[in-house]
Amino acid sequence: MTREIIVVRGNNTLTGDVQIAGAKNSALKLMAAAILAQGECVVRNVPDISDIEVMSEVLEELGAVVTRDNFVGRDEHTLTIDTAGVDSFETPYELVSKMRASISVLGPLIGRFGEARVAMPGGCQIGARKIDMHLKGLEALGVEFEVEHGYLHATTPRGLNGAHVVLGFPSVGATENTLMAAVAAKGETIIENAACEPEIVDLANMLVEMGARVEDAGTSVIRVQGIGRDEFHPCDHTTCGDRIEAGTFLVGGALTGGPLTVHGIDPSYLRMAIVKLREMGCTVQEGDDYITVSREGELRPVEIQTLPHPGFPTDLQAQFMLLAACADGTSIITENVFENRFMFAAELARMGANIVIEEHHSLVRGGRPLQGAPVSSTDLRAGAALVLAGIVAEGETHVYKIGHIDRGYEDYVGKLRSLGADVSREGPYLNHRGTVRVETDA
Ligand code: UD1
Repeated sequence: MTREIIVVRGNNTLTGDVQIAGAKNSALKLMAAAILAQGECVVRNVPDISDIEVMSEVLEELGAVVTRDNFVGRDEHTLTIDTAGVDSFETPYELVSKMRASISVLGPLIGRFGEARVAMPGGCQIGARKIDMHLKGLEALGVEFEVEHGYLHATTPRGLNGAHVVLGFPSVGATENTLMAAVAAKGETIIENAACEPEIVDLANMLVEMGARVEDAGTSVIRVQGIGRDEFHPCDHTTCGDRIEAGTFLVGGALTGGPLTVHGIDPSYLRMAIVKLREMGCTVQEGDDYITVSREGELRPVEIQTLPHPGFPTDLQAQFMLLAACADGTSIITENVFENRFMFAAELARMGANIVIEEHHSLVRGGRPLQGAPVSSTDLRAGAALVLAGIVAEGETHVYKIGHIDRGYEDYVGKLRSLGADVSREGPYLNHRGTVRVETDA
């Protein structure tokens, strides 16, 4: 992880226009889906972030050749993934431990080879993050799992067969893994209580472009007619916009007053976040692929519950907790998706916020001005929110562990600077004794 920190000078505003990158959570799965075809898939609008680098390594480990088109004058956000040489179905611990989303190769590997060996992901700071539903979904299709020395070994002794799968919770990852195997299973699969996130629709669209037969993605019942393994063909697909990056910048505009416009995003992806911004006193205008936020009066308190899409996204919970901390009154934020996702509150409290946590509820008493402080990113969304907190705080904020931000936000500092923020990456950081301060991972 980088030893740099982000230094933010406060009492500032964010105004202007910013281009939103392709969705991280889509692009990672689109890259995994490429395994199903033999040949050169082109995936466009892929963000230049470290998680994508890890997924490239995962695919290269399997034998694929991944090239980012970064010649002068060409689009650096285009990845070419040549899967013709994929001859391994094993993903090592070294990569799965770097990024949990590496397990999304499980479904497509099973689809292509009928077999996969993927290291078990460990726990995660934002809750237990089990994979039981991924396994149940795949087991329904005939996959058998054995755990061997920390690896999940998946086999299909009786073939891969379509089935009626009912997920216990609309898990994004479980829906995706089940879907990517079901497209190559024999017969019909119905995935009930499926996740409805826009990234699932994006994945289904790419699978259809590769020859798969998928209907009703984006609803809670997805229907798949399996096709033969050899019937998949490479495609050229453009990743949808990143609703969480867009939501993060909109919070920046709402915090400082804006006007701030995010481009490259379908406003329907952010319906609930837009409702909450309006409830908090912001003016929000929507176009085909842009959203503008501005605010004149005080921020008003709000009640938010995170829920699977189209509910309020857990990945915007920290950013809205920051908004609530700056609102005139008391807000209640309830986290329903991950059981331990309030670590951000302790960091924001170091900047002067008054937040009480009771199990999965938080009470945010707003109105106290934030003060610049040294703080640490606890995950990528919290990291991005801490930088925004620094922009409105009094004095200077130093944000540590910014490797988390690099995982999911392309050129975050550059984009904030283009909107007027006084923010920079500095480091390796010298402490008051003049020695290098080294970050340690918790
Ligand atoms: C994805 C996103 C993440 C987002 C989350 C919810 C990626 C790379 N990450 O994560 O940014 O916050 O969706 O929108 O796309 N669960 C189980 N068993 C399972 C699977 C999940 O108990 O087999 C639980 C999880 O612990 C969690 C909840 O279900 O509490 C939701 O998880 P899930 O929707 O699967 O999230 P991810 O796909 O991991």
